[in-house]
Amino acid sequence: MQTLYFVVPCVMIIFLVLAFPNGFCLADINMKSGSQCSQADYSDSEGTFQANLRVLLDSLASNVVENHGFYQTIVGRKANRVYSSVLCRGDISASSCSGCTLNSTRVASNDCGMSKEVIIWFRWCFLRYSNESFFGDMQQTSVAITNETDFDDPSVVSEGLPFMTGLADAAPDRSYMFLTAILNTSQGGQKRYGMAQCTRDISRIDCRRCLDAQLESFRTVIGNKRRWEIYGSNCFMWYNDYHFYSNASALLSAAWRPSSCTRLIIGTTLAVSAAIFMFF
Ligand SMILES: *[C@@H]1O[C@H](CO)[C@@H](O)[C@H](O)[C@H]1NC(C)=O
Ligand SMILES: *[C@@H]1O[C@H](CO)[C@@H](O)[C@H](O)[C@H]1NC(C)=O
Ligand SMILES: *[C@@H]1O[C@H](CO)[C@@H](O)[C@H](O)[C@H]1NC(C)=O
Ligand SMILES: *[C@@H]1O[C@H](CO)[C@@H](O)[C@H](O)[C@H]1NC(C)=O
Ligand SMILES: *[C@@H]1O[C@H](CO)[C@@H](O)[C@H](O)[C@H]1NC(C)=O
Repeated sequence: MQTLYFVVPCVMIIFLVLAFPNGFCLADINMKSGSQCSQADYSDSEGTFQANLRVLLDSLASNVVENHGFYQTIVGRKANRVYSSVLCRGDISASSCSGCTLNSTRVASNDCGMSKEVIIWFRWCFLRYSNESFFGDMQQTSVAITNETDFDDPSVVSEGLPFMTGLADAAPDRSYMFLTAILNTSQGGQKRYGMAQCTRDISRIDCRRCLDAQLESFRTVIGNKRRWEIYGSNCFMWYNDYHFYSNASALLSAAWRPSSCTRLIIGTTLAVSAAIFMFF
Protein backbone atom coordinates (compact mmCIF):
# COMPACT_ATOMS: atom_id res chain seq x y z
CA MET A 1 0.00 0.00 0.00
CA GLN A 2 1.38 3.37 -0.97
CA THR A 3 0.94 6.22 1.42
CA LEU A 4 1.30 9.90 0.89
CA TYR A 5 1.70 12.00 3.99
CA PHE A 6 1.05 15.71 4.07
CA VAL A 7 2.30 17.80 6.91
CA VAL A 8 1.87 21.45 7.69
CA PRO A 9 4.17 21.51 10.70
CA CYS A 10 3.03 24.83 12.18
CA VAL A 11 -0.35 23.37 12.91
CA MET A 12 0.61 19.70 12.78
CA ILE A 13 -2.18 18.54 10.54
CA ILE A 14 -1.33 15.21 8.99
CA PHE A 15 -3.26 14.01 5.99
CA LEU A 16 -3.00 10.40 5.01
CA VAL A 17 -3.88 9.78 1.43
CA LEU A 18 -4.03 6.09 0.74
CA ALA A 19 -3.42 4.56 -2.65
CA PHE A 20 -0.88 6.97 -4.02
CA PRO A 21 -2.00 7.14 -7.65
CA ASN A 22 1.30 6.79 -9.45
CA GLY A 23 2.81 4.18 -7.13
CA PHE A 24 6.14 4.59 -5.45
CA CYS A 25 8.45 3.14 -8.02
CA LEU A 26 11.85 2.08 -6.88
CA ALA A 27 13.92 2.92 -9.94
CA ASP A 28 14.95 6.53 -10.32
CA ILE A 29 12.59 7.29 -13.14
CA ASN A 30 10.89 10.63 -13.21
CA MET A 31 7.32 10.75 -11.99
CA LYS A 32 4.87 13.16 -10.47
CA SER A 33 5.15 12.93 -6.69
CA GLY A 34 2.32 15.24 -5.72
CA SER A 35 0.60 18.54 -6.33
CA GLN A 36 -1.27 21.23 -4.51
CA CYS A 37 -3.63 23.69 -6.20
CA SER A 38 -5.51 26.53 -4.58
CA GLN A 39 -9.25 26.68 -5.17
CA ALA A 40 -10.13 27.60 -8.76
CA ASP A 41 -10.43 31.36 -9.15
CA TYR A 42 -12.60 32.68 -11.99
CA SER A 43 -12.14 36.37 -11.22
CA ASP A 44 -9.61 36.83 -14.04
CA SER A 45 -12.32 37.87 -16.49
CA GLU A 46 -9.98 39.49 -19.01
CA GLY A 47 -7.59 36.57 -18.90
CA THR A 48 -4.58 38.75 -18.12
CA PHE A 49 -3.35 36.56 -15.29
CA GLN A 50 -3.68 33.47 -17.46
CA ALA A 51 -1.83 35.18 -20.32
CA ASN A 52 1.00 36.18 -17.98
CA LEU A 53 1.08 32.67 -16.59
CA ARG A 54 1.47 31.17 -20.05
CA VAL A 55 4.35 33.52 -20.88
CA LEU A 56 5.98 32.65 -17.59
CA LEU A 57 5.54 28.88 -17.88
CA ASP A 58 6.93 28.90 -21.40
CA SER A 59 10.07 30.67 -20.23
CA LEU A 60 11.00 28.28 -17.43
CA ALA A 61 12.44 25.19 -19.13
CA SER A 62 15.29 27.01 -20.86
CA ASN A 63 16.00 29.50 -18.09
CA VAL A 64 16.20 26.94 -15.31
CA VAL A 65 18.97 25.11 -17.16
CA GLU A 66 20.84 28.37 -17.79
CA ASN A 67 20.68 29.09 -14.07
CA HIS A 68 22.11 25.85 -12.67
CA GLY A 69 18.75 24.27 -12.02
CA PHE A 70 17.10 27.02 -10.00
CA TYR A 71 15.16 29.92 -11.47
CA GLN A 72 12.73 32.48 -10.12
CA THR A 73 10.88 35.00 -12.17
CA ILE A 74 7.98 37.44 -12.08
CA VAL A 75 5.69 38.29 -14.98
CA GLY A 76 2.97 40.94 -15.11
CA ARG A 77 1.81 43.85 -13.04
CA LYS A 78 -0.28 44.43 -9.95
CA ALA A 79 -3.20 42.04 -9.50
CA ASN A 80 -2.15 40.03 -12.54
CA ARG A 81 1.39 39.42 -11.45
CA VAL A 82 2.69 35.84 -11.31
CA TYR A 83 5.66 34.76 -9.17
CA SER A 84 7.31 31.52 -10.06
CA SER A 85 10.10 29.27 -8.93
CA VAL A 86 11.50 26.07 -10.38
CA LEU A 87 14.19 23.80 -8.94
CA CYS A 88 15.73 20.71 -10.54
CA ARG A 89 17.27 17.96 -8.47
CA GLY A 90 20.97 18.76 -8.35
CA ASP A 91 22.28 15.55 -9.89
CA ILE A 92 20.20 15.33 -13.05
CA SER A 93 21.28 16.30 -16.55
CA ALA A 94 20.39 19.55 -18.26
CA SER A 95 18.05 17.79 -20.66
CA SER A 96 16.27 15.96 -17.82
CA CYS A 97 15.93 19.28 -16.01
CA SER A 98 14.36 21.07 -18.94
CA GLY A 99 12.22 18.02 -19.79
CA CYS A 100 10.95 17.71 -16.24
CA THR A 101 10.25 21.43 -16.04
CA LEU A 102 8.29 21.32 -19.27
CA ASN A 103 6.28 18.35 -18.04
CA SER A 104 5.56 19.98 -14.71
CA THR A 105 4.23 23.09 -16.45
CA ARG A 106 1.92 20.86 -18.51
CA VAL A 107 0.65 19.14 -15.38
CA ALA A 108 0.07 22.54 -13.78
CA SER A 109 -1.98 23.74 -16.74
CA ASN A 110 -3.98 20.52 -16.94
CA ASP A 111 -4.58 19.86 -13.25
CA CYS A 112 -4.65 23.34 -11.75
CA GLY A 113 -5.74 25.46 -14.70
CA MET A 114 -7.69 28.11 -12.78
CA SER A 115 -5.65 28.09 -9.57
CA LYS A 116 -3.49 31.02 -8.57
CA GLU A 117 -1.27 29.13 -6.15
CA VAL A 118 0.20 25.95 -7.48
CA ILE A 119 2.85 23.46 -6.42
CA ILE A 120 3.84 20.52 -8.59
CA TRP A 121 6.31 17.97 -7.24
CA PHE A 122 8.10 15.68 -9.60
CA ARG A 123 10.93 13.41 -8.58
CA TRP A 124 13.40 15.44 -10.65
CA CYS A 125 11.98 18.94 -10.38
CA PHE A 126 9.76 21.23 -8.39
CA LEU A 127 7.50 23.93 -9.81
CA ARG A 128 5.70 26.55 -7.79
CA TYR A 129 3.83 29.69 -8.79
CA SER A 130 1.53 32.12 -7.13
CA ASN A 131 -0.17 35.47 -7.54
CA GLU A 132 1.56 36.46 -4.28
CA SER A 133 5.29 36.61 -3.67
CA PHE A 134 6.83 33.72 -1.75
CA PHE A 135 10.47 34.35 -2.65
CA GLY A 136 12.82 33.90 0.27
CA ASP A 137 10.03 32.98 2.66
CA MET A 138 10.64 29.48 4.00
CA GLN A 139 7.50 27.37 4.28
CA GLN A 140 7.26 23.92 5.77
CA THR A 141 4.46 22.27 3.87
CA SER A 142 5.83 18.84 2.99
CA VAL A 143 4.84 15.50 1.55
CA ALA A 144 6.55 12.24 2.48
CA ILE A 145 6.38 9.23 0.22
CA THR A 146 7.32 5.75 1.32
CA ASN A 147 6.16 2.18 1.13
CA GLU A 148 4.43 1.62 4.46
CA THR A 149 5.47 -2.00 4.75
CA ASP A 150 8.99 -1.85 3.37
CA PHE A 151 10.74 -1.96 6.75
CA ASP A 152 14.48 -1.84 6.95
CA ASP A 153 16.76 -4.11 8.96
CA PRO A 154 16.48 -2.85 12.60
CA SER A 155 20.26 -2.44 12.97
CA VAL A 156 20.36 -0.28 9.82
CA VAL A 157 17.40 1.74 11.11
CA SER A 158 19.46 2.88 14.08
CA GLU A 159 22.08 4.26 11.67
CA GLY A 160 19.80 5.66 8.96
CA LEU A 161 18.23 8.59 10.79
CA PRO A 162 21.48 9.82 12.37
CA PHE A 163 23.03 9.61 8.90
CA MET A 164 20.26 11.72 7.37
CA THR A 165 20.40 14.14 10.31
CA GLY A 166 24.09 14.64 9.54
CA LEU A 167 23.29 15.18 5.89
CA ALA A 168 20.61 17.74 6.82
CA ASP A 169 23.19 19.55 8.89
CA ALA A 170 25.87 19.58 6.19
CA ALA A 171 23.84 20.26 3.04
CA PRO A 172 23.02 23.93 3.79
CA ASP A 173 26.72 24.84 3.79
CA ARG A 174 27.39 23.33 0.38
CA SER A 175 27.30 25.27 -2.83
CA TYR A 176 23.78 25.23 -4.25
CA MET A 177 22.63 23.79 -0.90
CA PHE A 178 22.74 20.33 -2.45
CA LEU A 179 24.50 17.29 -1.04
CA THR A 180 24.62 13.53 -1.52
CA ALA A 181 26.18 11.06 0.91
CA ILE A 182 26.70 7.34 1.36
CA LEU A 183 26.23 5.46 4.61
CA ASN A 184 28.42 2.38 5.08
CA THR A 185 26.27 0.50 7.54
CA SER A 186 27.71 -1.85 10.11
CA GLN A 187 25.79 -4.65 8.36
CA GLY A 188 28.36 -6.34 6.14
CA GLY A 189 28.75 -3.99 3.21
CA GLN A 190 25.14 -2.76 3.10
CA LYS A 191 24.93 0.88 2.08
CA ARG A 192 22.31 3.56 2.17
CA TYR A 193 22.26 6.65 -0.01
CA GLY A 194 21.00 10.07 0.95
CA MET A 195 20.45 13.37 -0.79
CA ALA A 196 19.22 16.76 0.42
CA GLN A 197 18.54 20.04 -1.35
CA CYS A 198 17.02 23.45 -0.67
CA THR A 199 15.66 26.15 -2.93
CA ARG A 200 18.32 28.82 -3.27
CA ASP A 201 16.18 31.80 -2.33
CA ILE A 202 16.23 30.92 1.39
CA SER A 203 19.15 31.39 3.75
CA ARG A 204 21.41 28.56 4.84
CA ILE A 205 19.92 28.85 8.31
CA ASP A 206 16.40 28.44 6.95
CA CYS A 207 17.57 25.53 4.79
CA ARG A 208 18.83 23.73 7.88
CA ARG A 209 15.64 24.51 9.78
CA CYS A 210 13.55 23.27 6.87
CA LEU A 211 15.40 19.94 6.61
CA ASP A 212 15.45 19.41 10.37
CA ALA A 213 11.71 20.05 10.54
CA GLN A 214 11.05 17.46 7.85
CA LEU A 215 13.04 14.80 9.68
CA GLU A 216 11.28 15.69 12.90
CA SER A 217 7.77 15.77 11.40
CA PHE A 218 8.08 12.49 9.56
CA ARG A 219 10.32 10.65 12.03
CA THR A 220 7.79 7.96 12.81
CA VAL A 221 6.80 7.54 9.16
CA ILE A 222 10.27 7.25 7.63
CA GLY A 223 12.41 6.18 10.58
CA ASN A 224 12.16 2.45 10.01
CA LYS A 225 11.87 2.44 6.22
CA ARG A 226 14.36 1.34 3.62
CA ARG A 227 13.42 4.01 1.08
CA TRP A 228 11.66 7.32 1.36
CA GLU A 229 11.39 10.76 -0.20
CA ILE A 230 10.24 14.06 1.30
CA TYR A 231 9.11 16.93 -0.90
CA GLY A 232 8.64 20.36 0.62
CA SER A 233 8.17 23.92 -0.58
CA ASN A 234 11.78 24.88 0.15
CA CYS A 235 13.62 21.66 0.94
CA PHE A 236 13.76 18.07 -0.20
CA MET A 237 15.29 14.78 0.98
CA TRP A 238 15.74 11.36 -0.55
CA TYR A 239 16.90 8.12 1.08
CA ASN A 240 17.39 4.83 -0.68
CA ASP A 241 19.19 1.50 -0.61
CA TYR A 242 20.87 1.87 -3.99
CA HIS A 243 22.95 4.51 -5.75
CA PHE A 244 19.95 6.27 -7.31
CA TYR A 245 21.60 9.58 -8.20
CA SER A 246 24.24 10.38 -10.77
CA ASN A 247 27.72 11.22 -9.60
CA ALA A 248 28.47 14.16 -11.82
CA SER A 249 26.05 16.98 -12.39
CA ALA A 250 26.37 18.97 -15.56
CA LEU A 251 23.67 21.28 -14.24
CA LEU A 252 25.71 22.47 -11.30
CA SER A 253 29.02 22.61 -13.14
CA ALA A 254 30.61 25.82 -14.35
CA ALA A 255 29.76 24.99 -17.95
CA TRP A 256 26.19 26.06 -17.29
CA ARG A 257 26.96 29.48 -15.92
CA PRO A 258 24.40 31.98 -17.12
CA SER A 259 25.67 34.21 -19.88
CA SER A 260 24.49 37.46 -18.37
CA CYS A 261 25.07 38.81 -14.89
CA THR A 262 21.45 39.68 -14.26
CA ARG A 263 20.13 38.40 -11.02
CA LEU A 264 16.72 38.53 -9.61
CA ILE A 265 16.50 40.72 -6.56
CA ILE A 266 14.78 38.76 -3.87
CA GLY A 267 12.35 41.03 -2.13
CA THR A 268 10.93 40.64 1.29
CA THR A 269 7.57 39.03 1.49
CA LEU A 270 4.73 39.05 3.90
CA ALA A 271 1.77 37.05 4.88
CA VAL A 272 2.44 34.16 2.54
CA SER A 273 2.75 31.79 5.43
CA ALA A 274 -0.82 32.63 6.32
CA ALA A 275 -2.07 31.37 2.98
CA ILE A 276 -4.55 28.55 3.20
CA PHE A 277 -4.07 25.81 0.69
CA MET A 278 -6.57 23.44 -0.73
CA PHE A 279 -5.36 19.91 -1.16
CA PHE A 280 -6.52 17.80 -4.05
C1 LIG B 1 -4.39 35.88 -5.08
O1 LIG B 1 -5.51 35.05 -5.43
C2 LIG B 1 -6.37 34.76 -4.35
C3 LIG B 1 -7.50 33.86 -4.83
O2 LIG B 1 -7.10 32.93 -5.78
C4 LIG B 1 -6.94 36.03 -3.76
O3 LIG B 1 -7.72 35.72 -2.63
C5 LIG B 1 -5.80 36.98 -3.37
O4 LIG B 1 -6.32 38.20 -2.92
C6 LIG B 1 -4.89 37.21 -4.55
N1 LIG B 1 -3.76 38.04 -4.14
C7 LIG B 1 -3.37 39.12 -4.83
C8 LIG B 1 -2.15 39.82 -4.32
O5 LIG B 1 -3.97 39.51 -5.80
C1 LIG C 1 8.03 14.28 -20.14
O1 LIG C 1 6.83 13.70 -20.65
C2 LIG C 1 7.04 12.91 -21.82
C3 LIG C 1 5.67 12.51 -22.34
O2 LIG C 1 4.89 11.95 -21.33
C4 LIG C 1 7.93 11.72 -21.49
O3 LIG C 1 8.15 10.94 -22.65
C5 LIG C 1 9.26 12.25 -20.96
O4 LIG C 1 10.07 11.16 -20.56
C6 LIG C 1 9.03 13.19 -19.79
N1 LIG C 1 10.31 13.78 -19.42
C7 LIG C 1 10.73 13.86 -18.16
C8 LIG C 1 12.10 14.40 -17.96
O5 LIG C 1 10.05 13.51 -17.23
C1 LIG D 1 6.09 -2.49 -0.42
O1 LIG D 1 6.99 -3.23 0.35
C2 LIG D 1 6.63 -4.59 0.51
C3 LIG D 1 7.62 -5.22 1.48
O2 LIG D 1 8.93 -5.01 1.07
C4 LIG D 1 6.62 -5.28 -0.86
O3 LIG D 1 6.21 -6.63 -0.71
C5 LIG D 1 5.65 -4.54 -1.77
O4 LIG D 1 5.69 -5.11 -3.06
C6 LIG D 1 6.00 -3.08 -1.83
N1 LIG D 1 4.97 -2.40 -2.60
C7 LIG D 1 5.26 -1.71 -3.70
C8 LIG D 1 4.11 -1.12 -4.42
O5 LIG D 1 6.40 -1.55 -4.10
C1 LIG E 1 32.40 3.85 2.75
O1 LIG E 1 33.07 2.79 2.05
C2 LIG E 1 33.75 3.20 0.87
C3 LIG E 1 34.37 1.97 0.24
O2 LIG E 1 33.39 1.00 0.03
C4 LIG E 1 34.81 4.24 1.21
O3 LIG E 1 35.42 4.71 0.02
C5 LIG E 1 34.17 5.42 1.93
O4 LIG E 1 35.17 6.34 2.35
C6 LIG E 1 33.39 4.93 3.15
N1 LIG E 1 32.69 6.07 3.72
C7 LIG E 1 32.71 6.36 5.00
C8 LIG E 1 31.94 7.57 5.43
O5 LIG E 1 33.29 5.67 5.81
C1 LIG F 1 28.94 6.61 -8.90
O1 LIG F 1 30.09 6.29 -8.14
C2 LIG F 1 29.98 5.08 -7.39
C3 LIG F 1 31.27 4.91 -6.60
O2 LIG F 1 31.45 6.00 -5.76
C4 LIG F 1 29.74 3.91 -8.34
O3 LIG F 1 29.60 2.72 -7.58
C5 LIG F 1 28.49 4.16 -9.16
O4 LIG F 1 28.32 3.14 -10.11
C6 LIG F 1 28.58 5.50 -9.88
N1 LIG F 1 27.29 5.76 -10.49
C7 LIG F 1 27.15 6.29 -11.71
C8 LIG F 1 25.74 6.46 -12.18
O5 LIG F 1 28.09 6.67 -12.38
